[in-house]
Amino acid sequence: MADRNAPFAALRGKTPEDLFGRLATPCYILDEAALRRNGELLAGVAARTGCRWLLAQKAFSNYDCYPVLAPFLAGTEASGLYEARLGFETLPDKEVHVFCGAYREQDFGELLRYAGHIVFNSPAQLAKFGPRAKAAGKRLGLRINPEKSTQEGHEIYDPCAPGSRLGTTRAQWDRQMTPELVALLDGLHFHTLCEQDSDALEVTLQAVAEKFGDVLPQMQWLNMGGGHHVTRPDYDIPRLERCIRFAQEQWSVTVYLEPGEAWALNAGFLASRVLDITENGGVVNAILDCSAACHMPDVIEMPYQPPVYGAVIGRPLEAEAFQDCHSERSEESVPSASKNTDPSTPLRSAQDDRANIYRLGGPSCLSGDVIGDYCFEHPLQEGDMVLFGDLAIYSTCKNNSFNGMPLPNIYRRTEDGRLEQLTEFGYRDFKYRLGR
Ligand SMILES: Cc1ncc(COP(=O)(O)O)c(C=O)c1O
Repeated sequence: MADRNAPFAALRGKTPEDLFGRLATPCYILDEAALRRNGELLAGVAARTGCRWLLAQKAFSNYDCYPVLAPFLAGTEASGLYEARLGFETLPDKEVHVFCGAYREQDFGELLRYAGHIVFNSPAQLAKFGPRAKAAGKRLGLRINPEKSTQEGHEIYDPCAPGSRLGTTRAQWDRQMTPELVALLDGLHFHTLCEQDSDALEVTLQAVAEKFGDVLPQMQWLNMGGGHHVTRPDYDIPRLERCIRFAQEQWSVTVYLEPGEAWALNAGFLASRVLDITENGGVVNAILDCSAACHMPDVIEMPYQPPVYGAVIGRPLEAEAFQDCHSERSEESVPSASKNTDPSTPLRSAQDDRANIYRLGGPSCLSGDVIGDYCFEHPLQEGDMVLFGDLAIYSTCKNNSFNGMPLPNIYRRTEDGRLEQLTEFGYRDFKYRLGR
């Protein structure tokens, strides 16, 4: 399992140049065999527990690949009108759930065409839109905030941070939820995790039980949100299943989970090439034809540092000793921790003078357009391919054309190994989001 899901396991022993050498870079490659493997793993949890899995499209919405995931999905989860429409159009036989921090009047009528389950963030939004949605036969939910932070140092990803606008706290519920509003509800929803294991879910569920245990028996379903890193090799699946069963038994609810990352973890690559190599004060910069800011924005926002084929993250003294970088690697040798760059630290010292350490960055004007420091097995040269792993998620759906940077085309690698081009991006895609 660990090896099968490692970031470059999908290459099955071939080199990036063998597989992707003929593609114009930069480009994304989505690996359908890896998507299926993730889907099968999630389907196993559903088969054992009866939970229902949704795909959070904010993380992965390359709908050409949806047919691979469809057998494992109860439906899709949307963040608003457009994602709801995408799920409805591309998976017409599946459920469409939507949660939005606040709905707009002008969208709501159309949203009712697509979504079967509509989750509100506040009692006021439930009061404003709920009666109309109920009359249209929709199932309604309210997002609750159990006020239990389980992640540290990541406030931007913590919906339970003090003062959070996301979810209804128990105090807000007690102030604003009238019996009429409660009667509109079919379910409750919480989303509190980010790339976490099931121990964090267990802690969260305890808080949910303490704060909302009295109202849950009136509900038909409980949606436990996303952030469950289930397809990560060391994820504790039995504990997840215990959490699901606890909710089912305690409150007689149908349990939904709506991860995004878990569906497409380690199921995509970004292929790029070296354009130039410069040296400044001991830092050797390799400037690539892809950009952190434009093509992998989570590298800057999270921050997150993607694995690179044939390299380890960081300097060799910090990173684990070299493994065989061309073989399938365990997650441990490819830490996906925060970005490993200290701008003041020269990358080369007397000890590691011959180590192939490069700071990978993009060609944009942004000084911080840096992906991170990597120690390569071989020296890099202009024209070399640099293949990033784990870039199916929060990448193709989040990229941009800042600096007039072209959008990388997207390919899918089918299960029988064919490469199919899904997009044909060009100047028009840059120009027509700016004007006519
Ligand atoms: C409401 C909601 N559901 C699901 C998700 C998916 O989370 P992940 O991709 O981390 O599993 C998110 C992510 O922000 C979210 O906000």
